[in-house]
Amino acid sequence: MDSSRLPDAADNGLLDRRTLLRAGLGSAAALLTASAHGTRPDHMRQPGAPMSGTSPPATELARTAIQSQPGTLGSGASRTPLQHLDGLITPSRLHFERHHAGIPTIAAHAHRLVIHGRVKRPLVFDLDALHRYPIVSRLQFLECSGNSAALLTPQPADMDCGAIHGLISASEWGGVPLNILLDEAGIEPGATWAVASGADAPAMNRSVPLEKLYEDAIVALYQNGEPLRRANGYPMRLFLPGWEGNASVKWLRALQVTDQPAMSRQETSKYSDLDVDGNARLFTFPMGVKSIITSPSPGLTLGEHGIYQISGLAWSGAGRIRRVEVSADGGKTWAEAQLDDHVLDKCLTRFRAAWRWRGAPAVLMSRATDATGAVQPDRAANIEGRATGSFYHVNAIQAWAIDSHGAARNVYA
Ligand code: CO
Repeated sequence: MDSSRLPDAADNGLLDRRTLLRAGLGSAAALLTASAHGTRPDHMRQPGAPMSGTSPPATELARTAIQSQPGTLGSGASRTPLQHLDGLITPSRLHFERHHAGIPTIAAHAHRLVIHGRVKRPLVFDLDALHRYPIVSRLQFLECSGNSAALLTPQPADMDCGAIHGLISASEWGGVPLNILLDEAGIEPGATWAVASGADAPAMNRSVPLEKLYEDAIVALYQNGEPLRRANGYPMRLFLPGWEGNASVKWLRALQVTDQPAMSRQETSKYSDLDVDGNARLFTFPMGVKSIITSPSPGLTLGEHGIYQISGLAWSGAGRIRRVEVSADGGKTWAEAQLDDHVLDKCLTRFRAAWRWRGAPAVLMSRATDATGAVQPDRAANIEGRATGSFYHVNAIQAWAIDSHGAARNVYA
């Protein structure tokens, strides 16, 4: 195909999204020659490796930007290397982590979940008991509300996509709907909250409105088809779709039904949002509509001039993604991106766009709109009204500058 005749959808090389569906777009392959096909490599001269109980990954991908509080090993975060992944599922071994006092080693058979407080029948569940209830599974994202805080620094940080945005992952989460367990316990009149606490060293706790627990919360037992990883709450965790990750308490051991929130450390001093007038907004649970281009991005340098696929992720705590637009000229003009087939409620959605890079500098951006009509804000709008140091719920548009050598870096546009 003569790619020079492809229709533009926006300035600086963005092509119509239907371009992606055409064959032969890339023209990145080398011509086949006799010498390239002629020799049998060693792995075709003898049988391969034996079978084994588990399959190690083919590549050395690892979490990134692993940081803990001074003097601690397990009180911090590690991030998903988003720029090296495709699709919408995060492999469990690369799911981001955020812990407040390390990963507890819990004997599953000894672990209990207690539902108590303002209930008619206080109940205790072990893992076997929970398996006798209906289990549902859903593909959904989990995002730490401190994700992307690096976009608040006065000068753009020299960081890659995973290091800036990697506190977002998506999995198939399987578990028991909480409305079933709460109904069995019997909520007393006037109860409106439940305080969820974990079996880690600080008994990390968060208060959650009963309304959310009834709407779509589960006690998660499975992640991507296997029991939860220990770092993600084994043997059981709370999972609150679309809400800030901290409230999805890992290693869940108690739900105390109450008529008011606990006002605990992690919902007052932390995980609250301070504005310039000194007001603290508490219980800001839903994660905003957001998107990022994962490729190209820092570290993934373009080679020859020609047509590239821009690829990225979009999500919203309010529901499905309706639309993603991409820009190659720093937000002056926008083209609609193609969404992958799976556009799911409160899940990562993969988007793609075709872009002709002619070797000129470019600034790539993406902007998501969710099913409620909410549009991802630009950086200035996202910062406006925030107190200095108030860093939760950053969902600003990310800009990557591409230089004439094809290298990408974080910029403010
Ligand atoms: Co919040």
